[in-house]
Amino acid sequence: MPATAATDAVVGPIALLGAPGAGKGTQAKLIVHRYGIPQISTGDILRDNVARGTELGKQARVVMERGELVSDQLVSGMVADRLAQKDCERGYILDGFPRTVAQAEWLDKYLDSRTFGRRKLPPVVINIQVGYNQLLQRLTGRRSCPACGRIYNVYSQPPRVDHVCDVEGASLIQRKDDKEEVISERLKEYERRTLPLVEYYRRQGRLHEVNGELPANQVTEQILKLIERPAVQAGSND
Ligand code: AP5
Repeated sequence: MPATAATDAVVGPIALLGAPGAGKGTQAKLIVHRYGIPQISTGDILRDNVARGTELGKQARVVMERGELVSDQLVSGMVADRLAQKDCERGYILDGFPRTVAQAEWLDKYLDSRTFGRRKLPPVVINIQVGYNQLLQRLTGRRSCPACGRIYNVYSQPPRVDHVCDVEGASLIQRKDDKEEVISERLKEYERRTLPLVEYYRRQGRLHEVNGELPANQVTEQILKLIERPAVQAGSND
């Protein structure tokens, strides 16, 4: 975890792209500490709605269990609600959104009508790259804490005591969509629907790529360098 304390700089929107298991959630949680801005994980918000049995959760559950993407309309509406909250004023980390070209177009339009301080800021788009075999191992080995959301991996980042969260002492859980048959569907859906989005941002000259196969703290270092520049340019909190 970066040693530097959170700043009050205007950071603007940061979008983390990457295949399932690339480390978006892991990195988002590390960056949150550095900048004191929220992590907005569409996957987490959807899972929370499923757990609470909301109308949105009922619509999303079956789709998520198949490893497919929830409709653009549903997800964009959900994101709009979240971005309207006060803690998003200085910026936020989008983890898993946008995930289709239609969602990226929606975000461009949304950001066009918003300011951070007094400035309009486009998203800093960071694609975390990880090879297929590594993704498989990460997804099958992932466990998380139901109390604090901390992410572990039985192969690469195990808890100190097997199956138990280091911080909360709660029993770790495995996500339903981390079963092998669902994982392969999620990876196919990523190639079909999300890879074109990578091209969309590349064409706009906005895509930054980082090597996600390095240890998590080294991935964070690469990401912080990309965020620092726009954060400094955004300057004061006016
Ligand atoms: P979501 O929850 O977003 O899942 P995902 O994109 O499949 O991504 P993951 O959470 O699986 O992986 P991650 O990249 O966050 O990796 P993590 O940091 O956990 O979405 C779930 C579902 O919701 C979707 O399938 C879809 O149905 C729906 N949905 C969500 N957003 C949507 C949208 N915008 N539109 C439509 N539908 C949407 O790391 C994985 C593992 O690797 C962990 O065990 C971790 O410890 C380990 N690890 C991480 N980094 C490293 C490292 N550097 N070295 C070694 N191990 C590492």
